Amino acid sequence: MVWELFNLLKTAEEEISSVQNEKDLENWRIKYLGRKSPLSLFFKELKNFSPSEKKELGKKANEIRKKLVDLYEKKKNEFQADNNLHFSPVKQNKKTNFFDITQPGKKTPLSHLHPLTLVFNELTDLFGNLGFQIVEGPDIETEYYNFDALRIPEDHPAREMWDTFWLAPKDKKQKSKLLLRTHTSPMQIRFMEKHQPPFRIIVPGRCFRYEATDFSHEIQFHQIEGLVVDENVSLANFKSIVNNILMTFFRKNIEIRFRNSYFPFVSPGIEVDIKFKKAKSSVYKNKWLEIMGAGMVHPELFQNVGYEKNQWQGFAFGLGVERLTMLKYNIPDIRLFFSSDIRFLKQF
Ligand code: DAH
Repeated sequence: MVWELFNLLKTAEEEISSVQNEKDLENWRIKYLGRKSPLSLFFKELKNFSPSEKKELGKKANEIRKKLVDLYEKKKNEFQADNNLHFSPVKQNKKTNFFDITQPGKKTPLSHLHPLTLVFNELTDLFGNLGFQIVEGPDIETEYYNFDALRIPEDHPAREMWDTFWLAPKDKKQKSKLLLRTHTSPMQIRFMEKHQPPFRIIVPGRCFRYEATDFSHEIQFHQIEGLVVDENVSLANFKSIVNNILMTFFRKNIEIRFRNSYFPFVSPGIEVDIKFKKAKSSVYKNKWLEIMGAGMVHPELFQNVGYEKNQWQGFAFGLGVERLTMLKYNIPDIRLFFSSDIRFLKQF
């Protein structure tokens, strides 16, 4: 009986060497390893033997079974490797040994840049072309840089404009309270402390606010801060730069409006609105949409960083990057940016 099984192994080996496709391989598996295969029947017969014979025969049969399984696995892997061939631009026809070089290659999916990255890249390029230097600041800020140095003292009502994530103090010795920066404006102070004008910088970065999320609010978002300081800088310069950047960014499809506003660190404060000439969504049609805060740097900031009195003038602005990206690509909900939803990301 065991001899029969050895013969079986031989024929199985011969047969599998001529198996050409996965269907034939499956038939082979059923024939030699299936429930009704001679081997399975043999295992069922074993109970009729004496314990010592059972042990001996069982061992042999198991060895044969293992060999059959190995043969099967090896062949299956070969087919799988063949299937993976589609990564190669031309596929070889196994039977005829013929390369069809006219066959279109299979498209390998490529990764995409996040829409915020696209907008950061575009804006930093545009500002770069106008001579702006790109600098970055820390996400964790002190109360001084985020608020006090920007003329937003404690108990000042303006602080309520920035709902803040405060960080628990490390120990009692810690002098300045720490927080997650609520805007990129603190970098105005940090940069001016270390550099003498003239300069023009932008500060791209992540900001955080402790507020309820909805389609237009997230607890984390991005801003690009801008700061230009020189001896003779005016609002006219600011308007010209903003015009240039926004018109290019929105492909001239907008009107721009400058409006009075209030921010403690600039005087006068300004807000910039845009209106689409041809709006992709009816939500934006004929509506003025606010996209940045700005203004002339308050003289007290220059004083805070130790600049010579009355020597310098400057303007500053803060752009909301999510807002600009939503308007540019017609994205309805800010929460999509951090959802990691591949269906969303694949569209860019
Ligand atoms: N930091 C302000 C905010 O987050 C935006 C802003 C307003 C920035 C006016 C500026 C500015 O540089 O001049 O609301």
